[in-house]
Amino acid sequence: MIPYTQDVSQSLGRGAFAGLDLAPWKAQAKAILADLSRERRTGALELLTICDRADDLAAAKPLAEALLKDTSDLVLLGTGGSSLGAQAIAQLTGRLTPFSRGAGPQLHFFDNLDGETYSRAFAAFDWRTTRFLVVSKSGTTGETMMQALAAIKALEDAGGGKYAKHHFTFLTEPGGNAMRKLAGELGAPVADHPLGIGGRYSVLSLVGLLPAMLMGVDPALMRAGARDVLAAIETGDPDQCPPALGALQLAALMEAKGLRQIVLWAYADRLERFVMWWRQLWGESVGKDGKGSTPIPAVGPVDQHSQLQLYLGGPDDKHYTFLLPPRKGQGPVTHAALAEKIGMASVGGYAIGDLVAAQALATPETLIAHGRPVRRMTLPVYDARALGALFMHFMLETIIAARLMGVDPFDQPAVEEGKVLARTYLADGKG
Ligand code: PA5
Repeated sequence: MIPYTQDVSQSLGRGAFAGLDLAPWKAQAKAILADLSRERRTGALELLTICDRADDLAAAKPLAEALLKDTSDLVLLGTGGSSLGAQAIAQLTGRLTPFSRGAGPQLHFFDNLDGETYSRAFAAFDWRTTRFLVVSKSGTTGETMMQALAAIKALEDAGGGKYAKHHFTFLTEPGGNAMRKLAGELGAPVADHPLGIGGRYSVLSLVGLLPAMLMGVDPALMRAGARDVLAAIETGDPDQCPPALGALQLAALMEAKGLRQIVLWAYADRLERFVMWWRQLWGESVGKDGKGSTPIPAVGPVDQHSQLQLYLGGPDDKHYTFLLPPRKGQGPVTHAALAEKIGMASVGGYAIGDLVAAQALATPETLIAHGRPVRRMTLPVYDARALGALFMHFMLETIIAARLMGVDPFDQPAVEEGKVLARTYLADGKG
């Protein structure tokens, strides 16, 4: 059973986005579901079958054990799709939020390239107990390669050069790319990035699930949640398949009504990286050929104090999806007597989560009252299975929406163009 519910009854809005005939979009989505079902059966789209595997997880177990052995600091190098999924998983465990380091080594993600940040980290690391997992599908991304090469040099400078193979593990495509060669030079272990899965769709491969193992998240449970969602493809009916229903509404709004901005608003700190993962997925997958919509990540309730005025009072040009994990009753309870005394009885004697739960109800309702298009996705439990399901939901939704719009969900020509130009400028000493 799919571990979330999706309410799209208010998804089309009343104002700028009213009056859509969804019938032709449903017919197209039905045909796309049939294609996806065939691609799953024949193995033509690896993303749809990777969750049926367990052999890759078993093979990676010794790598995970070695990465954790006598380790104080575990550094994950990679960018874009080679990092964001693992970050979202880290937040599932509560890591990356204050006061929640969790068991095991201290985790560090360096997805953005910044020499200052990296220098500070190098000064703090104990090089005897710091290990690196370096992830790059292509094995040639400049940011990741520079980070890896700088770390190897620093380890050497600290006198640990001959132990490099114990400090670095690589995850990249099979073949003879630069990262494979680097691993070979060090004699370091390498795991395979699946050839048929692109960076931003790779979270349910070892790209996300080797880090999951390092954080004590059960990768098999994540894949089970993803399979729950995949099973809905087989209904062949967009009304019975949440990602297809979401996709056809968004595609119809973009293509027929000019929708250009979509907001994914999660009411939980632990979903903050998830919405950033989705931002890349949606942006790179649908934004091409002059089409697409800008993904806007948001976290609640804090963004009520930052964006809600614009969302309610500004232009009616956005679609809103709320991600709603359980909040009620969570967290410490406030001092009731003191709250009463200072005239704040309205927040006295409640758990912190009670207010968050009330806000998570009130904000979408206020948007709906203003005629804005709103979808609500409710998670009765937020665990590894639910996160796996959410990953698969949004990957399928993105693929189906892109296909409905007639764009290729899997390429990223503009990103590649930028990578090539940056390499030329670096070689020319520019910048
Ligand atoms: O989605 C994508 O393909 C990109 O954003 C990549 O994830 C990113 O550029 C990193 O590429 P690589 O994994 O080849 O280092």
